[in-house]
Amino acid sequence: MQTVHSLDPLRSAVAELRKTGTLALVPTMGALHEGHLTLVREARARAAHVAVSIFVNPLQFGAGEDLDAYPRQLERDSALLEAEGVDLIWAPTVDAMYPQGFATNISVTGVSEGLCGAARPGHFDGVATVVCKLFHQVLPDIALFGEKDWQQLAVIRRMARDLDLTRPCADDIIGVPTVREADGLAMSSRNAYLTPEQRAQAVALPAAMKTAIAAIEAGEPVNDALATLEAALLAGGFAAIDYAQLRDAENLTPLDRPAARPMRLLVAARIGKARLIDNMAVTPR
Ligand code: PAJ
Repeated sequence: MQTVHSLDPLRSAVAELRKTGTLALVPTMGALHEGHLTLVREARARAAHVAVSIFVNPLQFGAGEDLDAYPRQLERDSALLEAEGVDLIWAPTVDAMYPQGFATNISVTGVSEGLCGAARPGHFDGVATVVCKLFHQVLPDIALFGEKDWQQLAVIRRMARDLDLTRPCADDIIGVPTVREADGLAMSSRNAYLTPEQRAQAVALPAAMKTAIAAIEAGEPVNDALATLEAALLAGGFAAIDYAQLRDAENLTPLDRPAARPMRLLVAARIGKARLIDNMAVTPR
């Protein structure tokens, strides 16, 4: 396994790997957990070589967010990735990613609006810009992203189609189902911000979401189910709810009643120092 921190050695390493087979990219911000490692395993199953990028991207953090506090643990991450048989770690410095005078922005409209796009202005521009750069830097045949960040996945798919970043007919942006702790909480690097008490309370999020989904699928009005969900979170130790919404799973159109197409319940809520997000499928009736 090779680790590179600047563009020239990255380009050489990528050229070498591409000589002997396909290349998969798994973009991350590090502080790796089983969710990330599941993406890596899926990548290994689908391509000859796997590159993982580790970069805490300043562009996608807003003022007052956790850029400085975000966990950075490259040595531990490297050992985990080595054990998974990863070929290449791309861990650029901020200067290598954003040279002096950097002034370009990729902005995807539509799917980036509302939800986390409303709660975190500029966030998805930062994500789209860095992922577009990563695709050009690593030139992967496929790239894998978690369904945990459902709206992010939609933004990246839209950008890849719009900017011809992927091969026309191939499904080469691959979404991987959310990996959860035994009690149902979605794995996240930000779970590390929780105290043991908050960690125990956090299970209210997936639990309340499942209850809401069962109610919606049983025909309860969507707004009633969402109101019950919000009340359960506040009663369960959450301090605030950024959003709890039912949306079309693909184009993310807001829904106030169930549709005949696949739907998604998406929630973001705050507990202690953490802002947790989760989403789950809602089956059409
Ligand atoms: P990060 O939060 O490190 O996540 C890296 C990838 O792992 C993302 O595709 C995310 O959806 C996926 N992931 C995180 N938790 C997961 C879980 N519990 N189950 C399945 N997949 C999970 O998302 C980012 O970084 C950044 O925005 C990035 C795309 C790297 C751009 O900076």
